[in-house]
Parts: sequence; structure tokens; C-alpha cells
Amino acid sequence: MRLGGRIQAAAEILEDVIERRTPVTMALRDWGKSNRFAGSKDRSAIGNIVLDALRRKSSIGFRMNDDSPRALALGATVFSGGISVDDIIEQTKNDAHFGAPLTDDQIAKLRGQIDLETAPDSIRADVPDWLWPAFETNFDEEAVLEGAALTERAPLDLRANGIKATRDKLNQKSAKPTEISPIGLRFSPVEGFGRHPNINSDPDFLTGKMEIQDEGSQIVSLLVAAKPGETVLDYCAGGGGKSLALASDMNNEGAIHAFDIDKRRLAPTYERAMRAGASIIKVVPPPAKSLNHLRGRVDRVLVDAPCTGVGTWRRKPDAKWRLTEDALGRRMAEQVKVLDEAKDFVKPGGYLFYVTCSMLAAENEAQVYAFLERTSDFALLSAGEVWEERFGVDVPKPWSSDGCTLTLTPASTHTDGFFFAVMEKSA
Ligand SMILES: C[S@@+](CC[C@H](N)C(=O)[O-])C[C@H]1O[C@@H](n2cnc3c(N)ncnc32)[C@H](O)[C@@H]1O
Repeated sequence: MRLGGRIQAAAEILEDVIERRTPVTMALRDWGKSNRFAGSKDRSAIGNIVLDALRRKSSIGFRMNDDSPRALALGATVFSGGISVDDIIEQTKNDAHFGAPLTDDQIAKLRGQIDLETAPDSIRADVPDWLWPAFETNFDEEAVLEGAALTERAPLDLRANGIKATRDKLNQKSAKPTEISPIGLRFSPVEGFGRHPNINSDPDFLTGKMEIQDEGSQIVSLLVAAKPGETVLDYCAGGGGKSLALASDMNNEGAIHAFDIDKRRLAPTYERAMRAGASIIKVVPPPAKSLNHLRGRVDRVLVDAPCTGVGTWRRKPDAKWRLTEDALGRRMAEQVKVLDEAKDFVKPGGYLFYVTCSMLAAENEAQVYAFLERTSDFALLSAGEVWEERFGVDVPKPWSSDGCTLTLTPASTHTDGFFFAVMEKSA
């Protein structure tokens, strides 16, 4: 396919996502199925345009003075994809697949006629209006910077599985060591129409020497600081990403109970643990009563709570515009529930960890403080000491609104957004 066809295809897919509210992964897949002539390079180029357009939907709409799918696709191609306006004009001449040629007005806008600096802050940050006050409260003068960092393309991070390898033994020549996690490797975000390597067919992955895991997720797993021989409960284990990281950190000694209310989400954990040689992971499908024997007996309970996923907007940009106040309220109610359920498993003197991939105080600090109000036998500890112990002092620093909890963000720690709090149960 030529450039014009790719832009036009991206516009059609954006229409599906924005106007019919189809999730972007589904819209891209459906388009691929009904356009089998498109090669893998075409599909990744189109995917890049679509995802870039969604990451910057409001700022591109402002700069184009038009938020139609076609304007968004054009803006993303130029402002994020780095293709020049002249290249578009040149390459789309007489290309029927592109549709109507660019108008003078579109050319002017693509050349930067409208200065984004003149836009309201929420548009410069590409954050939905209703969420902007929450962003400003959290990040103050850095709010635009934090929002804008969530519009960048994300890197691809790997975690060396300590049970089978160290990161310098992995055969990933074009990946660089991660800045903070001592066990991670990073492929920089793709440029232009590029794509990341296919890790799922890589021998290091197939033999369990490494996993795909964002550095932020690696960091919060390391902050749990689980020791070999301990008993750990991963209460919201999902696909087992953090359980696997914990098993590696514990040198595969001790016990990790990986539980999730949703057995379909939990399902991949069996195979992943096998591949990683993480024999200490015991997958516990619902109902939760199978965990009864662990009440009051677990050294460390991790609650990687269901949340809005604001910290992952770089990777799932359609979620940003799909999120509603109602959905936020539902996630907050679930957070209260999981904390109240999980706390009963912590042994006296043990630890409860609360993690989200959100950057909203309502899902983070506010949940922790409300939990401490209604539960008298837990005390909030400072996560800063463990941070220094594990990562030293010469690495980028996360946010902390209270000196105890930590918030990782793309702008501060160059990771996905994550919140981390640790509470100790009185002995
Ligand atoms: C953020 S995801 C976990 C991701 C996972 N820890 C990982 O690293 O891949 C949150 C999980 O919480 C689970 N969940 C929601 N309510 C729950 C409950 N009451 N008890 C246990 N798990 C619950 C969801 O099914 C979901 O898989």
C-alpha cells in the first residue's frame, strides 16, 4: 500500500473506534481481516497512525481545527509520525486510495498554522476535560507535562527471569538496560512506521529466560521485596505478570499463591509459570474460599487492584476517551472490596501492598487513607527506603505526595504510570 491508502485506512478505523466505540484492537483486527491484501508493514504503519491519533486526539483536533477521523489521521501522520506535509502531497498525487487531495486549509494546519501553546491546558495535555481537575490537583505545575508524556509512544520492556538467566545473558542486542529496574531491558519506542520485534517467537522468550513486562511493573514487583522462603499471596494475579516477577525475585524459594476472581484472566498463569520454571507459583482459581487456610498466615499480600488504567494510556489510548465517571466509581468500589478482602490474609507483622496502574489520587492515596481509617491494625510505611535499597539514589525519582507512597509516571520515571503503597499489620 502507498501512503495515501494507509492514511485513508487509518481514518476508516478511527471512525469505527470513535463513532461506533469499537475497541481499537478489535477495529484494527477487523480491518486486517477484511483487507487481506495489506501486508504486515502496512498493518503496522496503519496501527501507528491510529494509535498516535488516539493518543493525541484533542491536541490534533485543536491543531487541525477539525476532529474528523481523516483530520486526526493526517495530523497523527505529520505531528507524531514525522512524515512531512510535502511528502504527503508528493506521495498522494493521483492516488485514488487517498480520496480528495489535501486542501489549502489542511496544508496550512499541517504546517503548524495553529500553535498548540494557545490551547487550554487539558487540550495541551490530551486529558479528557472531566479528568483535568484531578490531574491538576495531583501534578500541579507539571500536569501538562505528565499528560503529554502519556501521549508518547511506549517502549517495549523485557524482564530477565532470574530463575533461568540474567539480563546480560539474554540475546537481545538492540535492547538497552532499563534505567531503574536492574533486571530489565528496553527497546526504545518505534519511530515513524516501524514496529517492535516479535518477542513471542524469540528463543529467549520461548525458553522462559525472559518475559515482556513494563519497567514500572518490574519496579513495583521488586518493591514488594519478597524474600526467598516467604509465603506471598498475589490476590489480583490476573495473567500472573507480577507473580512471575516475584518468583524470580524470591529465587524460586517459598510459596506464591496466585489468585484472581476471574478464572479466564488467571488461565495463562499456568503455562507462563511452567515456561519460567517458577515452581513456587500455585495458581488458585476462584472461589476465594480455597484461600481460607491462608488467613492470617501470609508474609506479604499484594493487591494489584482493578483500576482505570490511566497509567497505561500510552499503550491503550482508546481507554482514555472511553473512561467515564461511572466506570471510575465502579473501579473505586472494587478497590475498597479487594483491600478489605485481602487484608485478612496478612499475618501479624506482615505486609499489605496496594498497587494500581492509575495516576488518579481517588484510586490511589485516597483509597489507602480510607482503608487506614476503617482498619485499625495497619500502618502506612515509607516506600522510599526500599526504593533506595533496591535501586540506589542515582535513578529517576517517582512522585510522592506524602513521602510514603510512590507514583511512577512516564514523565518522571519513564515507565507506565503505577501507584505503590506498603502497609504493615501490627504484630
Ligand atoms: C490490574 S489487574 C491485575 C494484573 C496482574 N496482577 C498482572 O500483573 O498481570 C486487576 C485484577 O483484579 C481482579 N479482581 C477484581 N476484583 C477482584 C476480587 N474481588 N478478588 C480478586 N481479584 C479481583 C481482576 O479480575 C483483574 O484481573
